[in-house]
Amino acid sequence: MNDVKVSQLNSPEGLALVATATRLLAEQPERAAVALRQHTDDQALAVAAMTQATLRAAAYPKFGADAARMFFTRDGLEQASRAIVAQRRADRLAAAGVDRVADLCCGIGSDAFALAKHGLSVVAVDSDPATLELTRANAQALGLADLVETRLGRAEDADLSGMDAMFADPSRRDGSRRIFDPEQYSPPLSTLWNTSRNVSQRVCKVGPGIDHSIIPEDAEAEWVSVGGDVVEAALWRGGIATAARQATVITGNRVTELAGTGDRQAEVGKLGDYLYEPDGAVIRAHLVAELADLINARVAHPRIAYLYADALHVTPLATPYRVQEVLPFNVKKLRQLIAERGIGRLTIKKRGADVTPDKLRKELRPKGDNEATLVVTRDEGRHLAIFCEPVSLSG
Ligand SMILES: C[S@@+](CC[C@H](N)C(=O)[O-])C[C@H]1O[C@@H](n2cnc3c(N)ncnc32)[C@H](O)[C@@H]1O
Repeated sequence: MNDVKVSQLNSPEGLALVATATRLLAEQPERAAVALRQHTDDQALAVAAMTQATLRAAAYPKFGADAARMFFTRDGLEQASRAIVAQRRADRLAAAGVDRVADLCCGIGSDAFALAKHGLSVVAVDSDPATLELTRANAQALGLADLVETRLGRAEDADLSGMDAMFADPSRRDGSRRIFDPEQYSPPLSTLWNTSRNVSQRVCKVGPGIDHSIIPEDAEAEWVSVGGDVVEAALWRGGIATAARQATVITGNRVTELAGTGDRQAEVGKLGDYLYEPDGAVIRAHLVAELADLINARVAHPRIAYLYADALHVTPLATPYRVQEVLPFNVKKLRQLIAERGIGRLTIKKRGADVTPDKLRKELRPKGDNEATLVVTRDEGRHLAIFCEPVSLSG
């Protein structure tokens, strides 16, 4: 936000200007900023209103209809939890009987609002005054102000007395640089665990790339994907931790969970009529063996996460392909086949093979009207090229 305060935007004049900016952006995107200036003498407010309208549009995928009432900064929006993931976390905390919860490092409030929508009372703490002002304005805009108490301060100093649970989402960025080491988060992960010792149920968001070796033994580590992309990971401790590892796969409004130990090896066996690509959350959670049990499948190589089965088993936890042909991996022979078959649209996937799809595509020179999916991988002895087709699940 420029020098304009949230309170100015949240005034009748400010809100009317944001509404006009939203309309102008829809009607004449190229001229919207210039046109908006005709609607006010306060040019700084016009710029802030246009920024807000732009951010609200950008926020729609994360926040749905609520985006049209909320206030954002670009940073706040980028770091905010997706509403659907926050809502599912809130479902879990509410089901565990949590009533009062601290949201440490609350940002613009996505998690706090999901919790409050469940009727939980939330103490939302952030050390950045401007961000906390947004949380306050957003709580009011969403009609949740009675349930969300905002407190300016450091998470590590927060008074958690009376809380049934704490949730923390520390900063994992330094400017535009992502931070991977949890001890470099702000505040560091170990500090957050120590802060909340007196609260038994604790959840901390972490980067999806977290190293399994540093996950506390008593924690459940959960990876969440939305629409096929792994969007976050969280560590759960205390009574709310269930299994050692969990994958949560969200597709539309459907939530599918897979739990396990995270240290099992899937059975190694032959290729089959179907190849499955596990969802990224399953792979990150080291739950490929648990998925293999579920769909009666095996791997062709102990460290490669493609699963093979003889029958189709439809699950949101994996994408199935029907295997059409298995060949030794040989670029020259593949190029010849692709030319003979007139394959112009070629999807290349790979796991466990030392190939770069873009480079391979150039070498294979696809040309023609036909379409194919080529998986390059290996079993325990050789590199393989597997032609397959995605299984249509719509029928
Ligand atoms: C990843 S964002 C939180 C996003 C939030 N969960 C949401 O969905 O909107 C991290 C937040 O931590 C805050 N922060 C960083 N260090 C902090 C500290 N020591 N104490 C409290 N807040 C802190 C930042 O101001 C930032 O708003």
